[in-house]
Amino acid sequence: MSAHKERWGTRVGLVLAMAGNAVGLGNFLRFPAQAVQNGGGAFIIPYLVSFLLMGIPLLWIEWAIGRHGGKYGYHHAPGMFDAMGKSKLLKYFGIFGLFNNLAIAAYYCYIESWTLSYVWHSISGAFSGKTAEQVSMFFSQYLDIGTGKFFNVAPEAFIFFLITLGLNLWILSRGLSRGVEMASRIGMPILILFGIFLAIRALTLHAGDQGAVYDSSVGMNFLWTPQFDSLSNPKVWLAAAGQIFFTLSLGMGSIHCYAAYLREKDDIALNAASAGWLNEFVEVLLGGSIIIPIAVAYLGLDWIKANVGFEMGFRTMPTLFQNWGPILAALAGVAWFGLLFFAGITSSLAMGQPVMAFLQDEFKTTRNRSVIIFGAVTFLLALPCVFLYEEGAFNEFDYWAGTFSLVVFALAESIIFSWVFGIDKGWEEINRGADIKIPRFFKFVIKYVTPLFLLAVFIGSTIKPADGEWTAALQSFFSGNGWPLAVDSVIGTIFNLGIADTRWFIDGIPSNVFVIDMTRILILFTFVGIGATIYYAWKRKRTVA
Ligand code: ALA
Repeated sequence: MSAHKERWGTRVGLVLAMAGNAVGLGNFLRFPAQAVQNGGGAFIIPYLVSFLLMGIPLLWIEWAIGRHGGKYGYHHAPGMFDAMGKSKLLKYFGIFGLFNNLAIAAYYCYIESWTLSYVWHSISGAFSGKTAEQVSMFFSQYLDIGTGKFFNVAPEAFIFFLITLGLNLWILSRGLSRGVEMASRIGMPILILFGIFLAIRALTLHAGDQGAVYDSSVGMNFLWTPQFDSLSNPKVWLAAAGQIFFTLSLGMGSIHCYAAYLREKDDIALNAASAGWLNEFVEVLLGGSIIIPIAVAYLGLDWIKANVGFEMGFRTMPTLFQNWGPILAALAGVAWFGLLFFAGITSSLAMGQPVMAFLQDEFKTTRNRSVIIFGAVTFLLALPCVFLYEEGAFNEFDYWAGTFSLVVFALAESIIFSWVFGIDKGWEEINRGADIKIPRFFKFVIKYVTPLFLLAVFIGSTIKPADGEWTAALQSFFSGNGWPLAVDSVIGTIFNLGIADTRWFIDGIPSNVFVIDMTRILILFTFVGIGATIYYAWKRKRTVA
């Protein structure tokens, strides 16, 4: 039962906090990269369909599970799942709701810290007069990568990481309303203003204007001219669904936690949809109108297709801003990295709250002590991401916690909600206190379409074929030549496919495979450790009762 009884201050604050949870680095760095890598206009239809058939229904499911759990005094996923049925095993699905937040916070806070440091470097003029190569090199030096050494010893990056984590902990220690809600009320409007400023600048760039080679409309046309043939391409569907997960913060446990601070009859139907649509507004309209059109205007479409990735925001954007003159370049740098910082911090706060809520509810830990525990565990998990970034630890966290686990948790929760808790009770839960009438069609979607959609995503990512060529893979399979697994499929990743030399030590020096395998053991250990803590919490509860 709950030891803490916090509440949201206002409805606007709640929606901004939920939208702040969703709007993150994914909107501005991941979305453009995914859209370009998956064919621009080819990506957009699967993306929007995934939002309607999977994103919005899952938002309602997660808000409903959260508010229902809150009624029983639970603000964390293990308790919420325990309250949804009789089986003692249900609470263990809640491991994901704590693990995903902790493990994602570890590497997410690190990227967030780069944005803070880059705000400072934009103000101090660190990029002015530098060539594109020098700016890109600045990033490598900042992270101490590309030196061939084992261990990235980057003192500045580490200090900024500590400052960022400290800021997160300080805001969390102020409580839900005075901390998280306040940060979202300040951060969200600022990031939207910064985003509008940059989007206007991007969309008014014309060939010949301040060094631009092409009109920015070339990039926009690439993104927004729909290509219907992508509808039959599972590779694009997988990428689109993955982006919807990450951007809406689905399958993490943070939405559940925030929703648990609602009252039993507070609306969730309209609030959930508003937060989801606000995220899409920011992602599609702002996230899609900054990095791609600006980079295409200066570097051309072919360059972007060959080089796009989330590091582009750091390696390339500061150089492009230099074309606008020193003052506008500094302003654009502050706006770009500032918006990334606010987007990031309002999301990472949402990763801390569920872990703290678990400690407060189950172990009656005080808020300050739970902040310290969350901070200490995040810090320890972040160490490999910081010091073994180049060796692959960071990517392992992103793959297992930030991609795979989200799908597993969402699949589990959609089945539990519709088939264990029961769709009739679930539908009633979603609609209680609703300020909008959700079309009944969504009851069918939630019961059948969303779980099947998720199952397809799960199976698709587990056995993804090489180059995403499903037709070729099926032909190969049926002609007896086996299934050509993609190296980044779940099975391919587990077996380190695509890595020729899998020795742990080469010439006495630990290899990247060693780092990758050790990181996986650490991730597994964290997962099992959370499971054991849940077991202990319930055992303790029985003893106390
Ligand atoms: N939803 C958050 C993001 O997009 C995690 O970055």
